[in-house]
Parts: sequence; structure tokens; C-alpha cells
Amino acid sequence: MFNNSNKNILLTGTAGFIGSNFVPYFLDKYPNYNLVNIDLLTYAGDLENLKECEANPRYKFIKGDICNRELIEFIFNEYDIQGVIHFAAESHVDNSIKNPGVFVQTNVNGTFTLIDVAYKYWMSKPFTYKDEYKGCRFHHISTDEVYGTLSLDPNDLFTEKTPYAPNSPYSASKASSDMIIRAYNETYGMNTVITNCSNNYGPKQHDEKLIPTIIRNALKGNPIPIYGDGKNIRDWLYVLDHCKGIDLVYHNGKTGETYNIGGRNERTNLQIVDTITTILDEQVPKPDFSYKSLITFVEDRAGHDRRYAIDATKLENELGWKADENFDTGIVKTIEWYLGKYK
Ligand SMILES: NC(=O)c1ccc[n+]([C@@H]2O[C@H](COP(=O)([O-])OP(=O)(O)OC[C@H]3O[C@@H](n4cnc5c(N)ncnc54)[C@H](O)[C@@H]3O)[C@@H](O)[C@H]2O)c1
Repeated sequence: MFNNSNKNILLTGTAGFIGSNFVPYFLDKYPNYNLVNIDLLTYAGDLENLKECEANPRYKFIKGDICNRELIEFIFNEYDIQGVIHFAAESHVDNSIKNPGVFVQTNVNGTFTLIDVAYKYWMSKPFTYKDEYKGCRFHHISTDEVYGTLSLDPNDLFTEKTPYAPNSPYSASKASSDMIIRAYNETYGMNTVITNCSNNYGPKQHDEKLIPTIIRNALKGNPIPIYGDGKNIRDWLYVLDHCKGIDLVYHNGKTGETYNIGGRNERTNLQIVDTITTILDEQVPKPDFSYKSLITFVEDRAGHDRRYAIDATKLENELGWKADENFDTGIVKTIEWYLGKYK
């Protein structure tokens, strides 16, 4: 139990990539918040990611499942939770193709459990917050993948009005969780916000994801696998810029609204691997080969979306968000971090 009059906020999934970048940022920025962190520590969660926060008296970690209603109710009561920022999810598209069930369980049922417990703890009936919980907000972290895939026309961008058209079991489970959040706002008048972000990169990302996979295999001299023709396009955002966007929306976003977050940094997978191998060739050159010679095309991912790109105008204009990094600056910081991890 915390022994002060700070506000207690529940954060889920913070031993993973984005959450573990968010927690130190948020602890540092808001001395009047205590952060209660719940994470199941699946293969994707690692407490090493939160080591820098362990000594902070305003940080508490609980190992547990967001689908466990009794545990979530206990946490709300024990810590008198006054806000939720919900990161926890199964997040890897390839895994969702092999084993979709756990995506529905965590991403859909887990989100339902969290918001339903919050509703009953904060509100006495639809559209009526209990006096002591007025203003308590539920922020759901989601993805641009809910919108499906785009044409190659550079003017074709995901806006908050783009119809949902998820194509993978991962994006379908995230789209479903977004709909649950929407329903709790529409039906019960809950104070909710949703952010749909593009691909993140930066420190602490799991080994299975594209950028760590490229760096790790390159440094080991292994083949660097690239799906299909390597021309799939993603809009890359440095993880701390995502965290800053979440902070703005959590504090200043309009209730019931969705905000897209994206870096206006579209890159094909081939451009990503080319940039990374160029930097590695400069920074940690091998005497007998270029890292570029390791690039190997492998069978494409089933149902591989061709292009994602975000129009972040709403977040920029309404809340004043702007990415501090572009891909060329962010990737240098990212590589530096992974050189420390993999060398
Ligand atoms: N990584 C990206 O590029 C990206 C982009 C947009 C949106 N998102 C969204 O951001 C959120 C965080 O993504 P990430 O990349 O940090 O994911 P991640 O896979 O790195 O971390 C997910 C965390 O959730 C935990 N978790 C999984 N199931 C749980 C359960 N049942 N109960 C409690 N904890 C559980 C895991 O242990 C892990 O620590 C997700 O909701 C994801 O959909 C990610």
C-alpha cells in the first residue's frame, strides 16, 4: 500500500515493450501519481525492463492476469484505483496466426474484465459517476492495424474516421477490444479514450519483432529474414513519442474520442534493413563482409497487410502533439541500445 495522498493509477502490461518505456517517463513526470502495474509476465514480459523503477516508492508491481476478475476487483479496492491505462495484450501478428485463441482471451476478454470492473467501481449507474470518482478515465491503447491495409497512394492515410477492417486475428482482437471500450462510453457514459498507434520501435522491444530481429541476426552473422519482397510499408514511431502522445490524450483528450498516433515516417521493410545494416557497417564493421549480404527473403506472412500509414492531424491540431524523433534519429538511438544488449 502507498502511504501518501497521491492518485493511484492502474497500468496493465507494463513489463512489455511500450509499457516499460512509459512507466519511467510517467513516474518521472507526475510525482503526484502512484503507479500500480499488473502484468502476467508472459514470454513477452520481462521485469528486467522495469528494473530502473523498482526502487521508486510510487511504483508497485503485481504479477497477474487481466482476465482474472477477482484479482482486478481486489486491486481496485486495495489501491482505490482512479485511472487506468491499458497496454496489456498479445501483440505479435505471427503468433496470432498460429494461435489465435489466446489473442481473443487476453485482448477481448481481458479488456472487458478491466473496463467492467472499473465501471462498477467508479459509477453507481449509467452516466452517473460516484462523487469520489468523478473524472476517472479509462485509456485503451490500440493499434492502427484495426483499419486494415492501405493502397500505395501516399494520400491514402488512416484517419480516426477510417472504417475498421482488421485482417489478422491480432488486429481483429484489438478491433473487438476497441468496440467494447466504445460501448462502455456510449451505453454507460464512461470516461474513455482510445489511441490507435502505428508501429513502434526503440529500446526494450521483444527479440521476435522486426527491428531487434534484424540487429540480432546481423551481429551474429546469421541470415536476416525479410518477408516476401520486402516492400510492405509501415509508419514507424519512436516509442517515447508514442508515450508522450498517450500522456497528452490521457490528460487532455476528449471523452469517448479516438486519437491516431503516427510518425509520418513510412518505410518499406527493405528500407529498414538497409538503414540498419548501413549503420552497423559503419559502427561495428566486419572485416570480411557487409551486413547487407545477410539479407534473405523468406516466405511471406499469411494475409500480410501491404501498407499502414497514419494521419495524426487530430492529435497534432487538437492536443499539440508532435513527434520529437524522425526515423533517422530514432533508429540511431535504438541501434545503440541493442548494441549494448546483444554484444
Ligand atoms: N508494439 C507496437 O508497435 C504497437 C503499436 C500500436 C499499438 N500497440 C499496442 O500497445 C500495447 C503494448 O504493446 P507492446 O508492443 O508493448 O506489447 P508487448 O507484447 O511487448 O507487451 C505486452 C505485455 O502484456 C503482458 N500480458 C500479456 N497477456 C497478459 C494478460 N493476460 N494479463 C496481464 N498482462 C498480460 C505481457 O506479459 C507483456 O508484458 C498493446 O496493446 C499493443 O496492441 C503496439
